Amino acid sequence: MKADSKPVAPAQAAPARGGFSSTLGALFATIGSAVGLGNIWKFPYLTGENGGAAFIIVYLLSTLLVGLPIMIAEIMLGRAAHANAIDTLRKLAPKKSFPWWIIGAMGALAAFLIMAFYSEVAGWVFAYIVKAFSGSILSTDPAVTSQGFTSLVSSPWLSLICQWVVLIVVSFVLIRGVSKGIEATTRRLIPILFVLLIIVGIRSVTLPGASQGLAFLFTPDFTKLTGDAVLIALGLAFFKLSIGMGTMITYGSYYRDDQNVPVSAIRAMGSDLLVSLLAGIAIFPAVFAFGYQPDAGASLLFITIPSVFASMPLGNIFMVVFFILAAIAAMGAMLSIMEVPIAYLSEQFSLSRTKATLITAGLLALIGSTAALSNSVLADVKVLGFTFFDLFDYLTSNIMLPIGGLLIAIFVGWVWGPEKIKSALTNQGALKNQGLVNVIIILLRYVTPLLVLVVLLDGLNLLPF
Ligand code: TRP
Repeated sequence: MKADSKPVAPAQAAPARGGFSSTLGALFATIGSAVGLGNIWKFPYLTGENGGAAFIIVYLLSTLLVGLPIMIAEIMLGRAAHANAIDTLRKLAPKKSFPWWIIGAMGALAAFLIMAFYSEVAGWVFAYIVKAFSGSILSTDPAVTSQGFTSLVSSPWLSLICQWVVLIVVSFVLIRGVSKGIEATTRRLIPILFVLLIIVGIRSVTLPGASQGLAFLFTPDFTKLTGDAVLIALGLAFFKLSIGMGTMITYGSYYRDDQNVPVSAIRAMGSDLLVSLLAGIAIFPAVFAFGYQPDAGASLLFITIPSVFASMPLGNIFMVVFFILAAIAAMGAMLSIMEVPIAYLSEQFSLSRTKATLITAGLLALIGSTAALSNSVLADVKVLGFTFFDLFDYLTSNIMLPIGGLLIAIFVGWVWGPEKIKSALTNQGALKNQGLVNVIIILLRYVTPLLVLVVLLDGLNLLPF
């Protein structure tokens, strides 16, 4: 053990401040955080909007060269300090240096902004389970499904109630704690998610005319890629891996000291990728088979997909299954977003978990209402040309998370340094993963920060060429 980390409870018991009780539980919770609406909602609609396979390749490179190293770095830092995101950086940064805890503070702010719109989209998903059961949006006519969606989002009360229901359900799990709440819930839900997704995927690829959708997903056309699309792909990689704002630092702080961090992160990243590709395989073949357009944008999941399901045999059943799996995915992700401020509030102000959760949820209901009402009473209120909903989405994925990630890579690679990284990632020499660790160090010091910087500046049109 190193002097700068707290003593650890005996191997069997969870540490006093709460933690995942097993390696597998920690892995499921991490996968649960990564897999979410990012996979089921964002990945398909952004892939559809940005031309398919070429976008996926850029996304893949961002995930491997930027996302994975930062994910490993965050989990490693959290585990080394066994503290919330802000305290982790306070503890690990040298005294009298740059105030690195700002990364954690910016992360806590990002958590609120992300959750503000995320909880609303999750609310729509919950509402769609009900709608799918009742069959009210099952129509092959996009005008009808479009009307179904509009009537939901343009009603201020319905929008707010959807969001509140989500916040209440998530808070309920969070109050139960890290091991009994987060770990137990994700461990049950993630396997169900995989099974449901595979069922819908098989249905989709066995439709006549499915091949066009597969070609869209797997045959790249690089002429469709813009500089904007590259930043969007990078932002998506941050969003999907839950990095750049302290989620993985917080979850890392619940990891056990004998857990193999790089291997767990690689498994979580692989599962996340698999779920995204499966979601693409479940969606695009069906979209093309029934003659719909892939580039509908953010409403793809709520307007196009119901029409697609209505067009297929037994579509009503598959639609219920599909939205249940989306809700499951959203659950695990929301737990991890809210855990960042909850861990901070409860440790900083010695609050009980229940109090910290209720305060967080209350603040979210307040901030989130601006996103929830973005399609109704606040539709005309624009900040920098965006509604609140779009502003929170754009600002977090494309600016705050990349900046947070960049700072983490610089902190770990250059301030904390290779020696400590080596020691942390090999569990003080107990693991034989030297080769892998050396690659991670090179990525974190040179490749990752450089790529983030260039893509960020280019995407914001700040490069002189
Ligand atoms: N990764 C989740 C998804 O794909 C969302 C998420 C959870 C997230 N925690 C996060 C995004 C932290 C950014 C930062 O839906």
